[in-house]
Amino acid sequence: MEFLDLPPATHAVGSVRLPGSKSLSNRFLLLAALAEGETAIRDLLLSDDVERMLEALMALGIDWRRGEDNDFQVSGADGVFPVKQAELFLGNAGTAFRPLTAALALSNGHYRLSGVPRMHERPIGDLVDALRQLGADIRYLGNEGFPPLEIRPAAIRAGGRVTVRGEASSQFLTALLMALPLTGAGTTVEVVGELISKPYIDITLKLMAHFGVAVEREGWREFRLPAGARYRSPGTVFVEGDASSASYFLAAGAIAGGPVRVEGVGRDSIQGDVRFAEALAAMGARIDMGPNWIEARAPTDGHLKAIDLDCNHIPDAAMTLAVAALFAEGTTRLRNIASWRVKETDRIAAMAAELRKLGATVEEGADYIAVSGGLTFVPNASIDTYDDHRMAMCFSLACLGGVPLRINDPQCVNKTFPEYFERFAGLVAPVIAIDGPSASGKGTVAARVAARLGFHYLDSGALYRLVALAAIRAGVPLEDGPALARIAETLPASFEDGRILLAGEEATEAIRSEACSAGSSKVAAHPAVRAALLGRQRAYRQAPGLVAEGRDMGSVVFPDASIKVFLTATVGARAERRHKQLIDKGMSVSIDTLLRDLRERDARDSARSVAPLQKCADAELLDTTAMTVEEAVEWVVARARQRLPQAVARP
Ligand code: DC
Repeated sequence: MEFLDLPPATHAVGSVRLPGSKSLSNRFLLLAALAEGETAIRDLLLSDDVERMLEALMALGIDWRRGEDNDFQVSGADGVFPVKQAELFLGNAGTAFRPLTAALALSNGHYRLSGVPRMHERPIGDLVDALRQLGADIRYLGNEGFPPLEIRPAAIRAGGRVTVRGEASSQFLTALLMALPLTGAGTTVEVVGELISKPYIDITLKLMAHFGVAVEREGWREFRLPAGARYRSPGTVFVEGDASSASYFLAAGAIAGGPVRVEGVGRDSIQGDVRFAEALAAMGARIDMGPNWIEARAPTDGHLKAIDLDCNHIPDAAMTLAVAALFAEGTTRLRNIASWRVKETDRIAAMAAELRKLGATVEEGADYIAVSGGLTFVPNASIDTYDDHRMAMCFSLACLGGVPLRINDPQCVNKTFPEYFERFAGLVAPVIAIDGPSASGKGTVAARVAARLGFHYLDSGALYRLVALAAIRAGVPLEDGPALARIAETLPASFEDGRILLAGEEATEAIRSEACSAGSSKVAAHPAVRAALLGRQRAYRQAPGLVAEGRDMGSVVFPDASIKVFLTATVGARAERRHKQLIDKGMSVSIDTLLRDLRERDARDSARSVAPLQKCADAELLDTTAMTVEEAVEWVVARARQRLPQAVARP
């Protein structure tokens, strides 16, 4: 089993650009596929569930192309799908399975739809019953009421009334509404029983209207589709950031200082889960909102309070509240969440079991969960994730209890948010990236800044120097990229109290030799070596933060660094400093030789094709030609105090 160990953390600060919303991405894709005309979809979410939808649409004859980044172009079929026979595998993507079932049931073709075993345990009977009222021929291939399904050609009865049950999942009503324009007839849908998760229906109606189909609704009971309704592409559509994904970061800000800002959703969002911010505010968090961003900070007195909340309107984000509850005074009750039981896993049972591993007192009922706060966290809990992305993401917050914890099978976040853990690390372990040319003094400055702030320190140049040293010792030519990359991959390097060890042997001095200096800049020019060292460098990012120095810290290794400094000095000043250092060590080298060597290394580091030495656009220039080391350290520490006030608040 794979796992991810999260180190203890106490502060969360920074900002996160959210990935696109899953709900919007899959709805836009289906509507664009059924519409007349070409639709450009900007900022589509790239995740497992969206990939299942894209694959299915391709199998059904829909022409879509990926453009730059997350932009897609979809040629609509203007009605039913061109391919009349297909087998579709839809993984565990409810947002693909339900709407495609409805659209295909009205498409007069022969299709089979299946998913992962859990998908076959998630009910779909309410949707099938509704579609059968229209004459659809749908058969269960496994258990009655559950996928997999077979759909056969059938004469669809146009118009009239259809009933659909609303208590198990709002996705059944969404699926039915989105598919009904395929019949061309005016149809009235009546919801039987209490409709849950109403904000999701709101999203569906808004997107349908955007594609030219206006549904009239009578409260949440009756929905009327006009006769002759047809989807027409609105041209270009933009996918908002995922409001459910925002919940983890906002909660982190509320629990652990903040401010944490999410960008991509805000006051103008059409997603119901933005109301998660209100729930946090009710717990005492300080929330600020703009049209397209939300920011969360801990309460002024630092203490969150328990809440008692009907969570029907925010079913997904409510999971995040269950974990935030551990940090609140009192017992938090989250009610009206029966739908949790039929999601990616039985989320009420899973949540209760895993919260208890952290030491929490939890009461679970058919449709509620109660979690006691004020917890002393049990260290080293091993959290199971049940193939449920939201379990993995919300439990990551528990490391803010100041304890290490393990998240099992962390890759389940790929369902909606493949880069989740990197983004989370960015908040709890901010990076100060200091790049610059050789002998600029950045190593000394970075090490002292790290010591002042109590941050971890990464001397990335030492890794390249160690690869050069190991290669020279093993007789590997410094031009042999693949052989050097193999050395880099398994480099037995360790850093202990300022000492640098290679295979357990002291190499602190050896890697500073002129041979290693020249060798490391040759070694560093091989793309394969750089790739081999990337993961190792990123692993240094741990709470409370990291000061990383090198050539490409801000541009490649930590592009989301909170502070980026390009530290330099004239080549003359650098040669003089190195000259003085060498004299102090009792060595004598001519200043002209040093100047020539520095110029050669600058040229090689700047001219190489991968990760060249450069000042990235968002880095600040610090020219230390006329500065002392202390002044340079002060300059960086002052920036850190200003930008990362919570992270560096300790004495
Ligand atoms: O910072 P330093 O002088 O110890 O670095 C040694 C060599 O490694 C230098 O020639 C450039 C290379 N290097 C790099 O390419 N990327 C880094 N992040 C750090 C160093």
